[in-house]
Amino acid sequence: MNIIVTKDYKELSKKACEYIEEQVKGKPNSVLGLATGSTPLGTYQELEEGYRSGSADYQDVYSLNLDEYVGLDKIDPQSYHFFMNKHLFHSINIDPDHTYIPNGKASDLAYECERYEQLIEEIGPPDLQLLGIGQNGHIGFNEPGTSFDSETHIIDLSASTREANARFFNSIEEVPHQAVTMGIKSILKSKKIVLLASGEEKAEAIKRLLRGEQDESFPASALNKHDHVTLIVDEPAYKQA
Ligand code: GLP
Repeated sequence: MNIIVTKDYKELSKKACEYIEEQVKGKPNSVLGLATGSTPLGTYQELEEGYRSGSADYQDVYSLNLDEYVGLDKIDPQSYHFFMNKHLFHSINIDPDHTYIPNGKASDLAYECERYEQLIEEIGPPDLQLLGIGQNGHIGFNEPGTSFDSETHIIDLSASTREANARFFNSIEEVPHQAVTMGIKSILKSKKIVLLASGEEKAEAIKRLLRGEQDESFPASALNKHDHVTLIVDEPAYKQA
């Protein structure tokens, strides 16, 4: 694993942005695997600024998002569809028809998972997958105990994940209990992976990741199986590693 330690969140966001811009400049029809959560927000802001100043062009880019809450409509402000439109897709010239996110409102969720996995095969796999990490080591919404052989599936969110994400909702009761997520095997199909971690609340998870184990009780440790992972971590998240 290639590790880049940055002074702070701003520098982390700039580094991640550089990686993505370099990818898109080298291959204009790149497939980007994208993530939600608060960690990539700074990266998306940097990408927007880069786009405005002409440093990258997204018209031929495709994107595949990791996950979506079950039961939330695309226009629900808490949905990951809404998040991506607001924080990235509306700010760059990506073709909306080239952006893919699982449909958490699908009437047949099992079929939706199959359809999305098929999309990953047809459009992807991502040339570059951006990832955040949950405090319990989840990647996408793959909670501890998820098989490393998993493809896109429905997951029951753990109490700790619902609590951690409650800050985006009016109350914890509003946080969905399930999500559609790319599986660990789906994520590992990506050619390159950039994992972001910021803040001391991620320090324990990063410390565990860097022990190098591969253990299904800690989903992010599957990344230790992949040959092209870059961890961009700020000092607060790295200090105990
Ligand atoms: C959510 C997302 C993950 C993300 C994680 C961490 O659960 N599904 O993809 O990595 O939160 O979020 P944050 O970056 O806000 O700490």
